[in-house]
Order: sequence, then C-alpha cells, then structure tokens
Amino acid sequence: MTRFDVEPVPVSRIRETNELFRTALHAPVSSDEKWELAARSYQTGRTWGVLDEGEYVGTASSFGALLRVPGGAEVPMAAVSRVAVRADHTRRGILTELMRTQLTDAARRGEPTATLRASETAIYGRFGYGVADRSRSVQVRADRARIGDLGGEGTVRLLRTDQLATAPPEIYAGFGPYRTGMISRPAEWWVPRVEMPLKDGRNLRGAVHTGSAGHRDGYVLYEVKVPDDAGFDGAVLTIHDLHAPEPAVRRRLWRFLLTTDLVGTVEMHTAPVDEPLEWWVGDPRAVRTKGIEDATWLRLTDVPAALAARSYGNAEPVVLEVRDSLLPDNSGCYRVTAEGAARTDADPDLRLSSAALAALYQGDVRVSVLATAGLVEVLDGAALARADVLLGAEETPWCGTYF
Ligand SMILES: CC(C)(COP(=O)(O)OP(=O)(O)OC[C@H]1O[C@@H](n2cnc3c(N)ncnc32)[C@H](O)[C@@H]1OP(=O)(O)O)[C@@H](O)C(=O)NCCC(=O)NCCS
Repeated sequence: MTRFDVEPVPVSRIRETNELFRTALHAPVSSDEKWELAARSYQTGRTWGVLDEGEYVGTASSFGALLRVPGGAEVPMAAVSRVAVRADHTRRGILTELMRTQLTDAARRGEPTATLRASETAIYGRFGYGVADRSRSVQVRADRARIGDLGGEGTVRLLRTDQLATAPPEIYAGFGPYRTGMISRPAEWWVPRVEMPLKDGRNLRGAVHTGSAGHRDGYVLYEVKVPDDAGFDGAVLTIHDLHAPEPAVRRRLWRFLLTTDLVGTVEMHTAPVDEPLEWWVGDPRAVRTKGIEDATWLRLTDVPAALAARSYGNAEPVVLEVRDSLLPDNSGCYRVTAEGAARTDADPDLRLSSAALAALYQGDVRVSVLATAGLVEVLDGAALARADVLLGAEETPWCGTYF
C-alpha cells in the first residue's frame, strides 16, 4: 500500500483531472463551453487519478488504438496522455504509482504496447519507455521550391469548413495505419484537432486528393497565419496533418500548398524524417530542417505478446535477456529468430532494459548503436550483427499522430 492510491476517475470528475493537467502544463483551464467539446475527447474508463484530501493531485489518461508494427500487424495500444501531478505534490512518487497502475492495466486489457509524447525527455525512460520513432520539423520557402508536376491523374480540392470534421477522419480510417509506427485514430482523437480549433476561431483549412479512380487517397489539414511584419505574400502555412499512403499523392499535396498564392513559407513540425522533400523541390536549399526530435515513446507492457507480434529479419537467432523492474513479469530471456520470438531458458547473448527494448522494437535504431551507447550489454560479441539484422526494419517508423 502506497501513501497515495491510484483509482479510476468516475466520469463525473474527469473535468477536475483535466483542470489539473492543464494547470500542470501552464495552460488556462477550459470554460464551460470548451469543456463541452473537450469532454468528448476522453474515452470512458481510461483515466486514473490520485486523491489527497478529496482533491485530485495526480492523473494519467489514455485512449485505445492500434499500432502498426514491423511486418504489418496492428497491435492494441494504450495511447497515454494527460499525465500530470499537481505542483504542490511533485517528487513524492505519485507519477511512479500512476505509471505502474496504468501500464499493468494496459497489459491486463490485452494492450501489449503503450505510447506517449513526452513534455520532457527526462521523465519516462525510468518507466520503461524508449524513443521508438522521430519526426522532423521542416520549413520550405515557397518562392524557391518549384515542385514540378510529375503528371499522373488526380485532383486536389479544398474542403469547406463544415467538411473539416468529417472528411479527414473518414479518409484516414479508409487507409488505416499504412506505415510502421502509425496508429489508428478513434473519434476522440479528432475532437481537439478539428472541432476545438474551429470553435476557437482558428484559421483551419483542409484539402483532399482524389485519384483517377475517384477514390479519396490523401488529405491535408493546415492553418495559415500572416505574421505582423510580413506583407501579404509572407503568409506562413503550417501543416497540422498530412496523410496519403502513396508518395506521389503526398508530393501533390505539398505542391498544392507551396503554390498557393501569397504563401511565403510552408512548415510542418511532425514530418517523417525520410520524406524526400529536398528531392521533390527544384532547389534543395528551399528546405530547411529546423530539428529532428523524439516523437513516439513506446513501452512494451507485455513483452512476450509484443515480441510475438512483429516480424524479424533473416539471421541466425539471438537470445535477449530483458530486465523490467516496473513490470517484473516481463523480465527473462527471449529467443529471437527469423520466424518469431518467444521465452526461452537458454543463456542470453545480449542483456538490456525494457526501455532499450522498446527503443529497438520498431527498428528506428540498431542494436549495435545502443550497445555502443552502453544501453545493451554484449555477452556474446558475435550476436550483435545478428541482432541488427533480426530487429532491423524495412522502413523507418513514423507515427504522424500527435496526442
Ligand atoms: C512530470 C510529472 C508528472 C512527474 O510527477 P512526479 O509525481 O513528480 O514524479 P515522481 O515523484 O513519481 O518521480 C519519479 C522519478 O522521476 C523523476 N522525475 C519526475 N519528473 C521529472 C522531471 N520533469 N525531470 C526530471 N526528473 C523527473 C523524479 O525525480 C523521480 O526520480 P527518483 O526516483 O530518482 O527520485 C510532474 O512533474 C508534472 O506534472 N509535470 C508537469 C506536467 C508534465 O510535464 N506532464 C507530463 C506530460 S507528458
């Protein structure tokens, strides 16, 4: 028994935990009108709270989704967000208890993975989370970009404002997670991305790409601002969400944005690291990468189930010893082969923490890189090259969904 018990938050008190979260992030609390919408962004029965003298002092929430893992399987996942401890109660172990309860609950629900976006990178490694994919913040100068039209059939059409809340969710659901690291998006995810900004009077816009067969195969949601000191042609267009499984369609959507009149700059803060923007535009210096940052923090809540769900490269087997102090049932040895992975009694070749395993899971970083960093202990040197092949992935993971 800890001093602070973690309990499910009843629906009638979710708003209190929302206030706690917003206050912890130094954001204003929601008005009654805004809360009406924000309440719809919670999935029932997935918010935990810690009470002190009847007031919430800690909270963590999640929604359920599917995560696409190497090999193409879609694995149940807890998408963790709204994590906060009240400023007068920090550093007493409240988050530690919230994490233990939330992650144990996810495993019990049949969600072998949990992911989140971290406000600070120092927080989640100790709870077994590792950086599993990254994204790129990029700015493109419209006047120098000159993306040519490659031909092919398809049209880009602007959405009316009243279509913004319906068309993108339908299109996204239509193609689903098409790349390793992508997730499914429940209805609750969309509320703060479209309805809430529109209610706030923000300048949200959208466009849809329709292919030759009349099939809607891509869309973009964006916002345009004209900075005070810029002329009419200095508008900054920020892409909030751009998805299309086909690269040619993504290129066409970028082209549409870059050739929109009076737009000086197109920027995206969560672009895939490997989107070939520099190769699409006539002048590669039109593209400026402002940074590449951690995006998905992944936690394997049920290591045997998660390891069994993904595919592996073609190499001789290795045995990994995983150490998981928060969820000790995960600790033990796993034999990873080209055909799959399962528990074993064999001696380990490599030893690593649950956080290091999570960082390796989607294939964003190689085992040998983490060994060089001292995060994988090498017991048999010959195993390292095999592990690189087995755990490597054919494509760079990218989630493309912020929460
Ligand atoms: C981040 C936050 C939830 C941590 O809650 P907490 O109850 O203070 O965390 P704990 O007491 O359980 O801390 C556990 C360990 O993590 C460390 N830790 C926690 N937050 C940390 C931070 N922001 N930076 C560095 N270390 C941190 C603690 O020092 C402690 O280390 P120890 O075990 O070596 O003593 C809380 O500070 C908070 O609400 N911050 C503002 C909102 C926020 O950033 N939320 C996260 C959104 S992703």
